Amino acid sequence: MKSVATTLGVIVVLAISVMLAVMYTGVFNVATAWQDPALVRWVLVTTRESSIERRARDVQAPNLEGAARLENGFRGYREMCAICHGTPGGKPSPLAKGLNPEPPDLSEEAEHMSAAELFWVTKNGIRMTGMPAWGPSHNDEELWDIVAFVKALPEISPAEYRALDRRLPPGHGDGGHDNGSPHHGEEEDKPHGH
Ligand code: HEC
Repeated sequence: MKSVATTLGVIVVLAISVMLAVMYTGVFNVATAWQDPALVRWVLVTTRESSIERRARDVQAPNLEGAARLENGFRGYREMCAICHGTPGGKPSPLAKGLNPEPPDLSEEAEHMSAAELFWVTKNGIRMTGMPAWGPSHNDEELWDIVAFVKALPEISPAEYRALDRRLPPGHGDGGHDNGSPHHGEEEDKPHGH
């Protein structure tokens, strides 16, 4: 019994020493540009997928049909997601290229993630990855609009995306609402600093 306790004690002391050594010697590379080895990547991806799946179980998706949802969702997507997740037919931005892990193409994710999972991630973000939480700045209805758009993304061609972009010019009603109504109404036609 006593030797078991001694062995455990030694293991704990060793584990703590290794942890402190990693923390203080700088061997761990914090560079974003450094690619994780396959094993680390597998651990992180599996952890992320299980975490999202579990937490999205309690999320109840509303009706996501309707042109108003899609249009509001498009505005939200263009304003807040496109810079990292890209647009149909568009080139990745320098910001997207510099992130690690890289922001996935959401038209692919939309094929296998449920609306509830997309909503949960959009609202809560994914820590230590660059994926922000949009819950602190947007109400649920606004986030569901974006989810409706992301769900439709696999069907939206580059030409259709550009057509939406022309038809719905960016205005001051986009993004950044704390409590605004989900319907942005008519926007001014003036150009916006993009
Ligand atoms: C600053 C960059 C950035 C912005 C802006 C951003 N994302 Fe992300 N997003 C990421 C990154 C990076 C990941 C990958 C995280 C990972 O691999 O664990 C990600 C992952 C996701 C995922 C999870 C995909 C998966 O496979 O689990 C969803 C869904 C998502 N983002 C939706 C959105 C939506 C919707 C918006 C806009 C409201 C948005 N993101 C804005 C960087 C961003």
